[in-house]
Formats: sequence, structure tokens, C-alpha cells
Amino acid sequence: MTSFSQDILASTAQLQLRSIGKRYGALSALQDIDLQVQRGEIFGIIGRSGAGKSSLLRLINRLESPSEGQVLIDGEDIARFDSARLHVLRRKVAMIFQHFNLMATRTVAENIELPLRMAGLPRAERAHRVDELLHLVGLAERRDAYPAQLSGGQKQRVGIARALVLQPDILLCDEATSALDPESTQAILELLRDINRRLGLTIVLITHEMEVIRDLCHRVAVLERGQVVEQGEVWQVFGDPRHEVSQILLGGPARTGQGTAAATELWLELHYTGERALEPDLAGLTAALGSGLRLLHGGIDRIQGRALGCLRVALPHCHEPDAVLARAGQLADRVQRVY
Ligand SMILES: Nc1ncnc2c1ncn2[C@@H]1O[C@H](COP(=O)(O)OP(=O)(O)O)[C@@H](O)[C@H]1O
Ligand SMILES: [Mg+2]
Repeated sequence: MTSFSQDILASTAQLQLRSIGKRYGALSALQDIDLQVQRGEIFGIIGRSGAGKSSLLRLINRLESPSEGQVLIDGEDIARFDSARLHVLRRKVAMIFQHFNLMATRTVAENIELPLRMAGLPRAERAHRVDELLHLVGLAERRDAYPAQLSGGQKQRVGIARALVLQPDILLCDEATSALDPESTQAILELLRDINRRLGLTIVLITHEMEVIRDLCHRVAVLERGQVVEQGEVWQVFGDPRHEVSQILLGGPARTGQGTAAATELWLELHYTGERALEPDLAGLTAALGSGLRLLHGGIDRIQGRALGCLRVALPHCHEPDAVLARAGQLADRVQRVY
């Protein structure tokens, strides 16, 4: 891309991150981040755990401030906002979370209403808006239920309704589907896509689930150790991932022993060939390999009662990779370290 077209992109961007750095004490969580998000775009950020994704997102609604660089929304540096404008910013930039962050003692309708109460809207207006949102997210029948009575997918619908109730311009999603089963994930993605189209809402979404990016996003950036190592249109990055981390995240050619392997995170491929009739049991794997275990990718077929296929899992904070590999070898027919 020429610098000229980059300038045009920048000048029309709703959200711009310019030369962002973020430090927590001595730890440098983000370095030299330059990103632009256009109005109405669904922009994905992928990366392994600890890459800096959540830190990046928190800069956009000024939950945190960058150590270097600027965050511009509609061309304005949000660091300069006084408290009145910050208040507006917080309404314009909404957020949803992996664990929904609902209030357990309030009903669905009350949870959705909460931001309206805090904004001081009159009762009739609040009731009208809550009804609208309940219908938008398909929860009109559950309005008086409490969060504990809802499925994960329904809880996230409440989270989305609550985030949208003040009519934001930008929605930030931090691993919004990571706690959901595949079916609920699909339904939530459908809802987000619908909201993006109908309301023209800009969405910045972080995830470690590649299907989410592939199914929903227009453009994607790959974050690794606090830096953007690759970005582009989703079809481009998926079709021809250039950086090693993108290749691994996207399930491209697995590479081992390339020096850049994470000190603390271990990625394994567990192959099931049917020989020992082993079961790809995630609960068993978690018990044997560590509670932080994440499923990155899975493809299991069942033939004559035997599970055949491969699971790709990540183990954060792994200090004894050899011991873990040995234990994993008991649970799968073949185990390969991919990162
Ligand atoms: N509030 C904080 N204080 C200190 N360190 C933090 C804080 N938040 C994140 N970090 C560190 O910054 C790095 C990036 O974290 P994070 O942004 O949460 O990554 P991700 O969301 O990609 O998993 C990690 O090393 C994490 O431990
Ligand atoms: Mg995170």
C-alpha cells in the first residue's frame, strides 16, 4: 500500500492508534502500534494469550492511557478530553466481556436498564429503550429472569443489549464468545453481524478463536508480544499468512524449534488414530495437563465408535514442557509440539 492511500485511510478512520506504547512498570505490553479502524468496520485482533490484546482494547475507551502515542476517535486525541467529554466517550464506546459481567441480583431487563439509570434518563424513556433492546437481542420472553437462570449465550445477549442501550458508535468485544459452546458462539456472531449491518456499528473484537475472525471480521491484525506483526483484509491474511504466529494461529504449516517459541506457552497437537480407542476428552486433558488449557482447533470424526482426528491445544504458563508432553502422550496416540 502506498503512503498516499495510507494517508487517505487514516484521514477517514473513525479510530486511529498512533505509535502506541504501553508499559506496566518495567513490563512493555505494547510497542509501536499503528492501527486504523474505519466507521462501520468489524476489525479483529488475534494473538496468543499475553500478546497484549486486552491492554490494547482498554486504551480505546480510556480505561487505561497509553505510555506513548495517541488514540484518536474521529480525529481527536482522547487523552485531551475533560471529564465531560470523557463521559460522552464512555457512552460512545461500549464493551462486552468474556464473562458477561452481569449483576446477579438484577433481572435481565434491569441489567439492560442500568446504564440508562446512570445516565439519568426518565422512566418512560428507559422502559421504551429496554423493550427495544430486548427485542433486538431476542430476549423479550426472558426479561424478568435472573442471570443464573440463563444459558451462556443468553447472558451474552444481555451483555450486548446493555452495551448497546446508550447507542454507542463503537463496540469493543474482549473474547466475547470464548466462554460459549460452538452453537451459542455462532448465534452471538450472527447477532453481532446483524447489529453491525443494521446499526452501522463499528466493532473491534479480540479473540483467540479463528472462526470468529473468519466468519465476522472485515480486517484483522495479528498481535504478538505487544506488536502488530501482520494486518490486512481477512481473506488476505487467511489465504496467505506471512508471519509465523499468523501461520500457527490460522492452522497453517506447523513449525517447531524456530527459536521464537514462547517461554511460557506451549502448543500441542494431539492426534487420535483410533489405535487405542482413546477419547479426546477435554476435561481429562485439563486435569492431566493444566487448568489453563485452551482448545485452539479441533477436528474429530467418529468411525465405528472410535474418535479419529486431531486437537490443537494451548497451555499457558508451562514450565515443564517435556513432562507435559509425556503426560499428553498417555492421552493421545501421537503428540506433536507445534509451538
Ligand atoms: N494491569 C496490568 N498490570 C500489569 N501487567 C499487566 C496488566 N494488564 C496486563 N498486563 C500484562 O501485559 C501483558 C499483556 O496482557 P493482556 O493485554 O492481558 O494480553 P492478552 O489480552 O493478549 O492475553 C501480559 O504480560 C500481562 O501480564
Ligand atoms: Mg485478554
